[in-house]
This record gives sequence, C-alpha cells and structure tokens, in this order.
Amino acid sequence: MAGLTLAVLISGRGSNLQSLIDACTDLAFPAFIALVISNEPDAKGLERAAAAGIANQVINHRDYPTKEAIGDALSRAISDSGAELVCLAGFMRILSHDFVEQWRDRLVNIHPSLLPAFPGLHAHKRALSAGVRVTGCTVHFVREGVDCGPIIAQAAVPVHSGDTAESLADRVLKAEHRIYPLAVRLIAEGRVSVVDETALIADSAAPEIVLLNPV
Ligand code: GRF
Repeated sequence: MAGLTLAVLISGRGSNLQSLIDACTDLAFPAFIALVISNEPDAKGLERAAAAGIANQVINHRDYPTKEAIGDALSRAISDSGAELVCLAGFMRILSHDFVEQWRDRLVNIHPSLLPAFPGLHAHKRALSAGVRVTGCTVHFVREGVDCGPIIAQAAVPVHSGDTAESLADRVLKAEHRIYPLAVRLIAEGRVSVVDETALIADSAAPEIVLLNPV
C-alpha cells in the first residue's frame, strides 16, 4: 500500500474511523490505515477495523498507572506500526505531555463544534444552550489542553429550531465524515504546514457562499 501511514485511536462507535476506512478504499486516496488502537476493549470501532482487515489492538488505560505510562505504550505501538500520522477519532482519554510533543504536528483530532467554541464534552448540548444558529466540526492538530491546536478544516452546520442534542449531533456527524478524510488528504498531499501556530493550506480556496440562519 502506498501513501501516508495512519494510526487511528478510538474509544467507541468508530463512525469517523469508518469514514477514514472508506476513504482509504479509494486507490487514489493518498493514505492508508496501518493500525487501529482502542483504549476500550468493547469498542465497536474494533469490529469495523477487523472487518476491513486492519490490524487492531486494545491498550486499556486501566492497565497503566499513569497517563504517561499509557502514552508510552501508545507511542511504542504506533511507532512499531510505521504510522506517520496519528488520528484521534473519538478517543476519550487526555494524552500525556510527552505523547503530544512526540507527535507534534503529526497528531490530529476531530471535535464536534466550531472550535474554539465549545471544547470538551457535551458540545451539542452547550451549543443549544448558547442559542447559536450555526455550529459544526473541526479537525485540528493536537496541543496539550482540551481540543486546542492549529485548525486544519472546519464545516459549518446549521442549528434547526426544535433540534435536540441528538438531532444536532446526527447532522454534525455527517459533516465530520466529510472533513476528516479531507483533512487527512491535505496532510498526505503535503499541503498543510504550521506557521506561528496556525495551519496553512497550500493551493486551497474558501467557498464564496455565506451560510445564513435563519433565512
Ligand atoms: C465524534 O463526534 C467526534 O467528533 C468526537 O467523538 C465522536 C466520536 O464518534 N471526538 P465516532 O466514534 O467516530 O462515531
């Protein structure tokens, strides 16, 4: 297989993992997944990896005394797989300082809000409570701290009147499944660089359209 080698870290359902698996089945996609790691032994995403014939492994955080020790175990497994880029896809553990630094600018995350708004848990519930008309999702390089770091790609998603956290999450998730493969492709094509803690994307353009809500 050719292209950028990925390791994907999950904790649960793995629908974003699936979007990356699906993208990688296209021979023109410039990346492939070498390893999936879950910290939860019963994560559904592990079945998705197995079904796609991708090596997968459990590194259960409960087996390690500190987050530094988990970070070391993760780093070893990722390095052994040959992965060049680590994709967090619903990975629900805070990573150690050393891990984040070792994989600096080679570690990305997806979060279901337009960061820097609503980092952390319950992003949709908080977006609804704040009354925002537009929310979305973000793929970013990971820095120490919760859901922060240079932004690579975002999608804007309207909030509908009558939305619940669940209906909003469903709508945002569809956008997540588009932007994660997009961000990985941009990185794999060598088009993303970090300058002054901002991600620059070569040869890209923003759409001219404006999303108005309400119309
Ligand atoms: C997604 O909403 C992602 O943005 C967040 O956790 C959720 C994971 O969902 N970090 P899945 O496991 O990829 O289906």
